[in-house]
Amino acid sequence: MPGQPAARRTVLKGAALAGIAGLGAVACSTESKLGHAQTPTPTAPVELGAVDEVPVGGSKLYREQRVVVSCPAAGQYKAFSAQCTHAGCLLDKVEKNEGSCPCHGSRFDTTTGEAVRGPATVPLPAVPVKVEGGKLIAGPDA
Ligand code: FES
Repeated sequence: MPGQPAARRTVLKGAALAGIAGLGAVACSTESKLGHAQTPTPTAPVELGAVDEVPVGGSKLYREQRVVVSCPAAGQYKAFSAQCTHAGCLLDKVEKNEGSCPCHGSRFDTTTGEAVRGPATVPLPAVPVKVEGGKLIAGPDA
């Protein structure tokens, strides 16, 4: 503002920065409660469960295994990391083939991995998936 003493402008600027820092601290503590994944995808093949747990045309989140699986057609499966590409939180639910991140609200198409709502812009990485003995197996050697 014209005519405003420099000292006052400095104080206001400092207050604004403190406010931003405060927001950061709140976001971090929320994220730590929700838990960041240590690695974005399984590092070895993991059994997810029976294939019929994933509805044809739908998706299922395997939060413990950090994977989301979709089934575009009977017998076809696609898997993606369930770790949000924004800041690493695990997705917490999937509805209508859209996975949501509890930390800052990003949403991902669980049939393609694409980010459909930010702040995330990077797609979820694909994870190999196969069916063995009626069970879904996901991971690097699947
Ligand atoms: S970690 Fe920020 S939206 Fe998912």
